[in-house]
Amino acid sequence: MPDIFDKINSGAGLSFPDIVEILSIEDEAGMKRLFDAAYKVKLEHIGNKVSFRGLIEISNICTKNCYYCGIRRDNRKTVRYQMTTQEILSAAKWAYEAGYGSIVLQGGERSDSRFTESIEEIVRAIKKLSGHTLGITLSLGEQTAETYKRWFDAGAHRYLLRIETSSQELYRKLHPADHSFDARRKCLEILRDTGYQTGSGVMIGFPGQTVADLAGDLMFFKDMDLDMIGMGPYIVHHDTPLAEEFPDFESKREYQLNLALKMIAGARLLMKDINIASTTALQALRDDGRELGLLAGANVIMPNITDVTYRNSYQLYEGKPGLNDGPLQSLTSLKAKIESIGETIAFNEWGDSPHFYGRQRKK
Ligand code: 5AD
Ligand code: SF4
Repeated sequence: MPDIFDKINSGAGLSFPDIVEILSIEDEAGMKRLFDAAYKVKLEHIGNKVSFRGLIEISNICTKNCYYCGIRRDNRKTVRYQMTTQEILSAAKWAYEAGYGSIVLQGGERSDSRFTESIEEIVRAIKKLSGHTLGITLSLGEQTAETYKRWFDAGAHRYLLRIETSSQELYRKLHPADHSFDARRKCLEILRDTGYQTGSGVMIGFPGQTVADLAGDLMFFKDMDLDMIGMGPYIVHHDTPLAEEFPDFESKREYQLNLALKMIAGARLLMKDINIASTTALQALRDDGRELGLLAGANVIMPNITDVTYRNSYQLYEGKPGLNDGPLQSLTSLKAKIESIGETIAFNEWGDSPHFYGRQRKK
């Protein structure tokens, strides 16, 4: 009887049941085979290179109240901060000089005009200080079409907005009633129509989510024709409501890690030429989690270049790694780790996905 690996190796398109089967693999040998198959596809379509994005966590002030997130509005224990424009520009300058081809500005969601205008100015200033060479990705939540357009015109070219789950039912369990799945999905469409390379993602392994839900997430990404995916394991944060529904989280860390790696592999097999991030949450579960992500098919890493004085306060989940590593230290150790697995870092490149160019040509 042909097995799932025959189908994977034949290069035939994978169906929803195939993906469910892939995500259900539990034995070590089977998982290794799966990761190797996905890594091979990554080598064929992207090569053995890793794109870097310097991640700047500009603020932990958030108007939203997602049940899983440590910086949700109602978490009074979080000390709130907002980096000044000067601080953000100097972090961007550092990234530029260190040879990072692009940066990500990430932060809690705010839509007041003071905020949206300051982002526009910051994007312009970063373009200017880098001689218009540094690529800028934004990850600043749901905004109006007008705001997205203004930021795009200022020079941002990529946007990350995680849908968190493609199941409307699960979305309602993860969020208060005034957070809307449809509005979020609509934002992804607007972003793409505005001209951004658009990325999304989900949390993997939160309470109540099944492998069929996760397979549905991968199908959703494919249907949305995304250019990038950034997804990571759900990790408990005890000052949030969702933590109560996962009392045995500590004993499930390895399971969460493997599930996330299987999702990366499934994503790579399904969407061969897109950018897939190996996220910090993988490293929170295991020291070499991000390297494992690369070996399961991911090709992007977002090293944190936020000043260490702020890093502590940007804790979406517990056990965030590298809280005391300065940007240079992170870069040096990461470079060695990446080279040790036979991958190279693409310095001074935007690292756009081949998929995006394919999509542009089709227009
Ligand atoms: N565990 C893992 N990821 C989380 N995020 C927020 N809270 C958690 C958590 N407890 C992720 C969400 C969000 C991104 C900024 O961080 O997917 O989109
Ligand atoms: Fe805010 Fe994002 Fe956290 Fe939700 S997940 S509370 S929108 S930072």
